[in-house]
Amino acid sequence: MSETPGFDAARAARYPSLQDVPVFVTGGATGIGADIVRAFACQGAKVGFVDIDTAGASALVRSLAGAATPPLYTRGDVTEIAQLRAAVDATRAAFGDIGVLVNNVANDQRHDFATVDVARFDATVAVNLRPAYFAAQAVVPDMKRRGQGAIVNIGSASWLMKSADLTVYTTCKSAMMGFTRSLAAELGRDRIRVNQVIPGWVMTDKQLKLWVDAEGEQAMDRNQLLPGRLQGHDIAGMVLFLAADDSRMITAQAMLVDAGWV
Ligand SMILES: NC(=O)c1ccc[n+]([C@@H]2O[C@H](COP(=O)([O-])OP(=O)(O)OC[C@H]3O[C@@H](n4cnc5c(N)ncnc54)[C@H](O)[C@@H]3O)[C@@H](O)[C@H]2O)c1
Repeated sequence: MSETPGFDAARAARYPSLQDVPVFVTGGATGIGADIVRAFACQGAKVGFVDIDTAGASALVRSLAGAATPPLYTRGDVTEIAQLRAAVDATRAAFGDIGVLVNNVANDQRHDFATVDVARFDATVAVNLRPAYFAAQAVVPDMKRRGQGAIVNIGSASWLMKSADLTVYTTCKSAMMGFTRSLAAELGRDRIRVNQVIPGWVMTDKQLKLWVDAEGEQAMDRNQLLPGRLQGHDIAGMVLFLAADDSRMITAQAMLVDAGWV
């Protein structure tokens, strides 16, 4: 896993039940998604991921060339459901029936409530909510054939923190709660578990470049109960647990990984 300060890969958990399991991650090229791809690859899982950032994806795949199974990148825009489905199909064709889905893709571009028009609203939903539904629909037959499966939806604590300036995004992210719980009810009898991980503010390269300023640093110091900064691997660690058999009787739950902010 990534060598972020404060993280010691040698002390990280091993999940033998993830060995050789086909995993599909949306938005896996950079940010938290890349940490999730890396974490599964380091467990010996067979990871396929979709993204539009081919440069980021190539760098990630290169960095994991030594993994038992290097991850498979499929370029695809998840707002085009046909492209999302094609990426799922490519992962299945390479690795077999998918056992774990991580719905990670999102775009937290800021928007002004008063001026969002219908096209902007729909485009924001198309990246932040709709792919999760259709990715789940695409992999559930795989999981039924396997006799079990795990779906992990990545939410966001932003709506719990009452963040402004991104209301359509927070609306989508809060909807992950309802989606997670209803889908868990839909699929439980098939031993398919559906859970959500809700990150606090995570210090990805993009967040550091675009949004983390002195005021933001102060907000983290003031609101987090734990000192330090959240990193992608903190989120990935919870995703691994919820994907592994260690959590076999956990479903319909939301795990906040936010250093105690909410
Ligand atoms: N970073 C944070 O502080 C934070 C906080 C709370 C929740 N989250 C959640 O964690 C998840 C990952 O966040 P992140 O900060 O790493 O996101 P990010 O924006 O940095 O990365 C998202 C990835 O999705 C890809 N992507 C974007 N649009 C796409 C599209 N149309 N088709 C295919 N790929 C596309 C990007 O290229 C990128 O690789 C998201 O669900 C986000 O809502 C992040």
